[in-house]
Amino acid sequence: MKIEGKEYRTIWFEENVVKIINQTKLPHQFIIKELTNVKDAVNAIKTMEVRGAPLIGGTAAYGIVLAVQENNKSEYIKESATKLIQSRPTAINLKWAVNRMIKKLSGINTDQILDVALTEAKEICDEDEKFCENIGLNGLKKIEEIYNKKKDTVNILTHCNAGWLATINWGTATSPIYHAHKKGIPIHVWVDETRPRNQGANLTSYELNEEEIPNTIIADNTGGILMQRGEVDMCIVGTDRTLSNGDVCNKVGTYLKALAAYDNNIPFYVALPSSTIDWEIKDKKDIPIEERNSEELSHVEGIDENNEIKKVLIYPNNSKAMNLAFDVTPAKYVTGLITEKGICEASEKGLKGLFK
Ligand code: MRU
Repeated sequence: MKIEGKEYRTIWFEENVVKIINQTKLPHQFIIKELTNVKDAVNAIKTMEVRGAPLIGGTAAYGIVLAVQENNKSEYIKESATKLIQSRPTAINLKWAVNRMIKKLSGINTDQILDVALTEAKEICDEDEKFCENIGLNGLKKIEEIYNKKKDTVNILTHCNAGWLATINWGTATSPIYHAHKKGIPIHVWVDETRPRNQGANLTSYELNEEEIPNTIIADNTGGILMQRGEVDMCIVGTDRTLSNGDVCNKVGTYLKALAAYDNNIPFYVALPSSTIDWEIKDKKDIPIEERNSEELSHVEGIDENNEIKKVLIYPNNSKAMNLAFDVTPAKYVTGLITEKGICEASEKGLKGLFK
């Protein structure tokens, strides 16, 4: 997708280094960062220079490439794989991508291993791009249905950033939006700010602006009243891990939006590539929910009148804060799962119908 009119992907390999867009600097600074070793890749995932489930997976895959480049002994590659898997706990794409890389590399000769690793990491990223494009084409049908009835701007609410910045390209939740926009369907997006890190405001609104899609940032608690007023036609969100029973783990606050949508009879869709399905965990209580530093709540970063980035404390000095990063929306509140293979019911039957 575009930034200042130029096409980008979120990650690429060039002259023996991995290049990423440093998302901690957006929207105020656009900085391309180089990752030269596996430690850099782990750090980029931990500090959320890259984030979003599919992009974390892509970065981990290239992290294995960097590990092989540093030292192609199997012990070092395995140690690196463990460090990458542990860098963030909730998005299943991370483990999925690392395991796929390790499987591909097993039994490969040392003189070929770097080429094989590089080809597989590129394949993981190319595949994600294709899957996200197909998610968009499938989700477009739901937007078209609404537009054909309404014959007016379709208002879509989204939470966090499940945009192209969270993937390799297109995004998951945003891909149907980009496809509808390209087709000339008038769209307006309600962008949940998404406290505490503001991925909605900082990333989703930013990328929609760059693609010239009308959008409005709202405080996280505003969606409910907009739904009661009839100002939301549908919700589309992403996911970091969807269980085979259709329960959806995504950025904290998604569950409350799904409850409000359910109460107001508004379709609530979740967009995901198959790499985000967890076929193993059966109970949502077993999903590892990331708890991040409470400083992300108590401090806010922004740009001051001198164009300088500043971080300020907004809480009482001695207050305690808790920062759970994800929640789980039970399948019964999800209207449908938009995948690369089609749209299905959020249930084991629905998912198995498409993928097994
Ligand atoms: O903590 P983040 O910013 O990595 O969380 C991202 C999300 O919750 C996204 O909705 C999710 O990864 C969907 S991926 C397109």
